[in-house]
Amino acid sequence: MAVLVTGGAGYIGSHTCIELLNEGYEIIVLDNFTNSNPESLKRVEEITGKIFKTYEVDLLDKESVKEVFETNNIESVLHFAGLKAVGESVSLPLSYYQNNITGTVILCEIMQEYGVKNLVFSSSATVYGTPDKVPIKEDSKLGATNPYGRTKHMIEEILRDVAFSDPSWSIALLRYFNPIGAHVSGRIGEDPNGIPNNLMPYISQVAAGKRQQLQIFGNDYPTKDGTGVRDYIHVVDLAVGHLKALEKVQYTKGIDTFNLGTGIGYSVLEMVETFEQVSGRTVPYSITERRSGDISICYADPNKAREQLNWQATRGIEKMCEDTWRWQYHHPNGYDNKLNINNERTPVQHAAGFFNV
Ligand code: NAD
Ligand code: UD1
Repeated sequence: MAVLVTGGAGYIGSHTCIELLNEGYEIIVLDNFTNSNPESLKRVEEITGKIFKTYEVDLLDKESVKEVFETNNIESVLHFAGLKAVGESVSLPLSYYQNNITGTVILCEIMQEYGVKNLVFSSSATVYGTPDKVPIKEDSKLGATNPYGRTKHMIEEILRDVAFSDPSWSIALLRYFNPIGAHVSGRIGEDPNGIPNNLMPYISQVAAGKRQQLQIFGNDYPTKDGTGVRDYIHVVDLAVGHLKALEKVQYTKGIDTFNLGTGIGYSVLEMVETFEQVSGRTVPYSITERRSGDISICYADPNKAREQLNWQATRGIEKMCEDTWRWQYHHPNGYDNKLNINNERTPVQHAAGFFNV
């Protein structure tokens, strides 16, 4: 019996594949590589010493997804596949609704058809919009403020309807806070396309000399030092959280929601200082205008996951910065050390067990 990992070549998916393989799970990866590189999967195989099947398939291609279920004995699905860039979702809302929502509906239709009803879904703290108070509990009011966030909120609602219609489904909605860091080997990590939108990849590229300076988006927030506060969580802690959620969906029924965060908020300046200490590099910065749509402070109440999933984050921000830096230092161009003349990625060798349907 296998666990299907959609979006398994991506940042969080690839780290979760390692934890799954190390725990002895058989996995199958489905990805269209729209925002990832098959090299990540090759490295997952190298790190774990295990091989697995990979399907280069788009979730919107129903027949090909069906073929994956037809030819494998799938028991549960970890569903990471989706588009995630907030700014892009504002300019391309229909692509986001089509990819994220239709992709999830197609996946669920096929799961239903094949009697596979265990699902762990990648939601986001972005569904809370502007929180009334912190720490944020799972029953706080929801209200995403951009199309990307609304796809997550809508998918949560769709999955609730699915679980309500058929009590044999078992679904965990995981609301991630701010995943950062990389595998301790330094062999896999976050590989953003172009200019990073998020803080940690931007800081690490400045430290590496790839970008001149960080722009800090506002220092007049009502926080400890005026800069925005977030709940950064090590991607490996997050990956382990998926294993705990998987155990839960395999042994219970119904649908439930869990925050995956540390419960601790750090400011932008605290992150910069810690990164400088850990890397021994300076991170020049300037203070600029607030970024539109940003909130001042956001951190999780992670107690429900601790009590019901027996999970809690164990890695602190020094470790998060150290592991980010190891990955950045050894991979200044992410997975692709050979950019072609147009600054495009060159194709890399596929992992073993690679299938095109
Ligand atoms: P990522 O972009 O690195 O990984 C997503 C993967 O899904 C990529 O490999 C991409 O190629 C694949 N994909 C996208 N659309 C697909 C489709 N139609 N068919 C097949 N594959 C497809 O992103 P990530 O950071 O690893 O995030 C994983 C999930 O977690 C996403 O759903 C994201 O929205 C969610 N999430 C991420 C964060 C974050 O900060 N990284 C925070 C909260 C939630
Ligand atoms: C962003 C997304 C959110 C998504 C989350 C995790 C927006 C508006 N929100 O949130 O939907 O779930 O990423 O992927 O994009 N910062 C700087 N300079 C930078 C980058 C960031 O000062 O160059 C600051 C931000 O103002 C914020 C903090 O750093 O205070 C963290 O930013 P970021 O990493 O983008 O995460 P979120 O804002 O939480």
